[in-house]
Amino acid sequence: MTSPTPHSTDSLPSATTKVAARVAVRVDRVIDETDDVRVFHVSRIDGSAFDAYEPGAHIDVVLPDAPIRQYSLCGQPANQQELCFAVKREAQSRGGSRAIHERISVGSQIDISIPRNLFRLSAGTREHVLIAAGIGITPLLSMAHHLLTLPDTTFTLHYFIRSHSEAAFLALLATEPFAAHVVLHPGVTRDTLDDELSTIFAAAGPNAHAYTCGPGPFMERVVAVGERTHPADNLHLERFSAEPLPANADAPAAGAFDVVLAGSGQRVTVGPDSTIVEALAGIGIEIDTSCGEGICGTCIVDVVDGTPDHRDHCLSKAERAANKTICCCVSRATTAVITLDI
Ligand code: FES
Repeated sequence: MTSPTPHSTDSLPSATTKVAARVAVRVDRVIDETDDVRVFHVSRIDGSAFDAYEPGAHIDVVLPDAPIRQYSLCGQPANQQELCFAVKREAQSRGGSRAIHERISVGSQIDISIPRNLFRLSAGTREHVLIAAGIGITPLLSMAHHLLTLPDTTFTLHYFIRSHSEAAFLALLATEPFAAHVVLHPGVTRDTLDDELSTIFAAAGPNAHAYTCGPGPFMERVVAVGERTHPADNLHLERFSAEPLPANADAPAAGAFDVVLAGSGQRVTVGPDSTIVEALAGIGIEIDTSCGEGICGTCIVDVVDGTPDHRDHCLSKAERAANKTICCCVSRATTAVITLDI
């Protein structure tokens, strides 16, 4: 995996580099929501407004000499003067959350990416069910902010927490206008989770869309229970970390394939133990990456010809079926050659 390409604020991609724009921001407020969860409010150093973002969006947080990490925005999406994101200090931190907690304070100047969204509210849906566990509350909180502004739309935010002392944003969620939409589920165990989820889905209308964010096993139960009563397309999830999906059964046995660049006609082989990102870096073509795990969507490029073997967790089912885009950090090809719009 290559590191993201260093670049300045709002830099434009060159013909051979897919680069996500970065924004220089100042930290205006830092709020400790719990012992482990800290919320950062940032504004642009140049004083200009942010572009409006979609509820559910996330940003990269870029610190020198620290891994780039993605964090969901958790504020009011219509507020273009500031962005806020929450960071849980992970006990097993590989440097990302620990560095942010230890090195960012009020007045710090950092780079963030412009918001990206792979976790969208379903347009035109009247009933939304938000199901969060732990720090997974963050993208659902921005959705809740947005849904409060929509007339003729109902939503409930179900928040599974281990204990009140470990749960972020409880004070906000206990006050109106949120309180009328929030149901807390404290101390639910693995043995009782399915029953709790069954009750939630039984109360939801048949056309409701559900959105979940939290630990992987939790979301798997949400999807498994939700699919008993609702179409799979009505269930949406956002991951924080993931293992690559297993190979597609149609993938070539040897696992190697060629990538052709539509712009230049250059061709490179991706070996069984390599990735598209790595193979392209070997011929001087840099694809911007962030998570490197198929979660954040930074490395998505368009497919001109050939069929992707999707191994990511960020494309929707419809996007996978269309085979028009590919996540270059983890996905491969089921065809011997795949042509990318680079
Ligand atoms: S770098 Fe995050 S999905 Fe590829």
